[in-house]
Amino acid sequence: MQTALVILAAGKGSRMKSDLPKVLHKVGGAPLVVHALRAGASLSPAQQVIVVGHGADVVEAAVTTYDAKAVCVRQDQQNGTAHAVDQARDALSGFDGDVIVLYGDTPFISADTLAQMQATRAGGADVIVLGFEAAEPGRYGRLVIEDGRLDRIVEAKDATAEELEITTCNSGVICADRATLFDLISKVGNDNASGEYYLTDIVGLANAAGLTCGAVLCDEVETLGVNSRVELDRAEAIFQTQARQRAMENGVTLAGSETVYFSFDTEIAQDVWVGPNVVFGPGVTVETGAEIHAFSHLESCNVGSDARVGPFARLRPGTNLAREVRVGNFVEIKNAEVAEGAKVNHLTYIGDTDIGAKANIGAGTVTCNYDGVMKHRTKIGAGAFVGSGTLLVAPVEMGDESMTATGTVLPSGKNIPDGALAVGRARVDIKPGFARKLMETLRAKKKKKGT
Ligand code: UD1
Ligand code: CA
Repeated sequence: MQTALVILAAGKGSRMKSDLPKVLHKVGGAPLVVHALRAGASLSPAQQVIVVGHGADVVEAAVTTYDAKAVCVRQDQQNGTAHAVDQARDALSGFDGDVIVLYGDTPFISADTLAQMQATRAGGADVIVLGFEAAEPGRYGRLVIEDGRLDRIVEAKDATAEELEITTCNSGVICADRATLFDLISKVGNDNASGEYYLTDIVGLANAAGLTCGAVLCDEVETLGVNSRVELDRAEAIFQTQARQRAMENGVTLAGSETVYFSFDTEIAQDVWVGPNVVFGPGVTVETGAEIHAFSHLESCNVGSDARVGPFARLRPGTNLAREVRVGNFVEIKNAEVAEGAKVNHLTYIGDTDIGAKANIGAGTVTCNYDGVMKHRTKIGAGAFVGSGTLLVAPVEMGDESMTATGTVLPSGKNIPDGALAVGRARVDIKPGFARKLMETLRAKKKKKGT
């Protein structure tokens, strides 16, 4: 059975107090709506339709940047969740199979839960609703279950005092065959406390039409929706806790796990060691045996096997460290290929650079990659030795096993052939006794002034 995904993401989210549409606020470095897409991806959906409204253009851009195959449809007025799903009707008209509806602001629905809903559907129920036992049922819709059958869903606003006592609540996730779903939606009216078309009404309508409805229950944490900055913070904390657990279960040591921050797509291999206060921005992969020491910040980069990074290192987008590379403290590397066994150990900026295998970059080296308008590349050959305090003005190349003397400024285009040494620093004169004499003169001057 094929599955199509519909994600509702048209709402404004006024409680976020933000100009940014709610579903674009980030958890683990990715917009909420991307988390919903990733949750749904476990079903290998044949189609993904995202219903957008508030901030439609920016939401659509974020969605299609993440997945070009996702289709966005517009809901110009937010007339309720059934009306929202109805906007996907045309996009899914040629689809034969089940539709699962998710919310764009609900990032934690698990693959297991969705699989369980699918299994229950396969078991014969026509409409499956995902529910949970709510600690505080508040304004959630209530699942009215009679004799083990899901009879209807009542929105809190429309519920009787007795119905409000029910603690089994609606998560919003619903699954039904495409044709059944849209037939039922056609029958939904808006005669209720909010004057909205409720998707939840399809349960009562299905039962009235002689179809069967079932509920699958999941942990409340999975259904956490983000409506405010406080809930966004809670979601981030849950995400980080889960990501740390996953990493440790996969064989990663986290020394000071509660201070390590992951992104939605961080990939860390077995037997990697991570120190405290390390931040993994989006797009980071770390290969086996690598060590990432305290206070390092990594973003869109790859750390090769048995490499050692930090403490206090910053790896920026486009950095690829091959195996056994060493990157030490107060080193920043951007858009660079660093080959096997190369060392960049202290106080250095490397940008737009290729560093050959086993090259050694001395303390305080700077690749001057930016001329104020354009960026230029630097090439440092295999086994090269860059003296401390070297300024490499790009574009410039150092050959294999070449060297620069300490403090050399290598101008752009002044390429060093293989095996050659470049010395580019001012001559130093030593004047015997001069320092003492100078200090005496200065001190005498100060005394005379009486200051
Ligand atoms: C909905 C459910 C409720 C459930 C709760 C779980 C209905 C009628 N009620 O209530 O039973 O307990 O979610 O959180 O379905 N949206 C649109 N277009 C619309 C309306 C909503 O895209 O016209 C989107 C929102 O952006 C949001 C989601 O659908 O992501 C849910 O809408 P919301 O208004 O938050 O529904 P609730 O009133 O919370
Ligand atoms: Ca809500």
